[in-house]
Amino acid sequence: MRRAFLSLRFLPCIKVVEKVGHVRGSMIRDSRKFDPSAVDVLNKPRRHREIDPSELLRWAGIREKLVVLDVGCGAGFFTRDAAGMIGPEGRTVGLGTSRGMLQRFAAEGRPSRVLIAQCEEDAYPLQTGSVDVAILGFVLHEAQDPQSVLREVRRILRTEGKVLIVEWAKRNEQRGPQAASRLSPEDVRPLLRRAGFMLDQLRQLGESYYALTAVNVPVYCCPPARAVHF
Ligand SMILES: C[S@@+](CC[C@H](N)C(=O)[O-])C[C@H]1O[C@@H](n2cnc3c(N)ncnc32)[C@H](O)[C@@H]1O
Repeated sequence: MRRAFLSLRFLPCIKVVEKVGHVRGSMIRDSRKFDPSAVDVLNKPRRHREIDPSELLRWAGIREKLVVLDVGCGAGFFTRDAAGMIGPEGRTVGLGTSRGMLQRFAAEGRPSRVLIAQCEEDAYPLQTGSVDVAILGFVLHEAQDPQSVLREVRRILRTEGKVLIVEWAKRNEQRGPQAASRLSPEDVRPLLRRAGFMLDQLRQLGESYYALTAVNVPVYCCPPARAVHF
């Protein structure tokens, strides 16, 4: 299958790329998906108090000159901070399946040097090995097939590039997805391993969230799957 790739070299432009025939945000009926009409919740001050995006991104190794991809960027909660950390020589791309969310991000004044584009569930318009750090912030539990999302994330990451996953802790709460739809670190670890990642760091973020980073290990570093015990 031929893919149209975004150029990471010419990025002062900011645009929302719509794929012809793609499901539009307002038509999504998948109950796992975040409702685009509730987008205001994502940029509430309370959320910034609970999750300090800059601190988390630094913890994940984001720094100047890197190419950072925010998969499921929503209204830019992580993308904005990432763009502020990578400097003029870095690049930030925000992708999402929901056109409505991307339009909201674009309308709210997004940072320069950020490219926003619509993507498919597990097909991103980026070249293989072109990204240093990929962010999956509250996205994996929404995916129809989390395994294929992680495989696609690994494809676009350079060898030894990192993925930062931020997710809801698997517990019942009045907010957020139901516990049954959440993915615990124990749920995510085998998915990462099968996709070719090695777990790097894991931390709790209060009672409600956790974050982990995993490294795209070269193939020759991967022990046989049966020999890996988490
Ligand atoms: C709960 S929102 C989180 C947005 C943002 N990361 C944040 O933390 O504020 C999840 C976003 O991921 C998008 N999404 C879900 N599955 C996706 C996938 N497989 N690939 C790309 N985006 C996805 C949804 O459309 C939605 O905009």
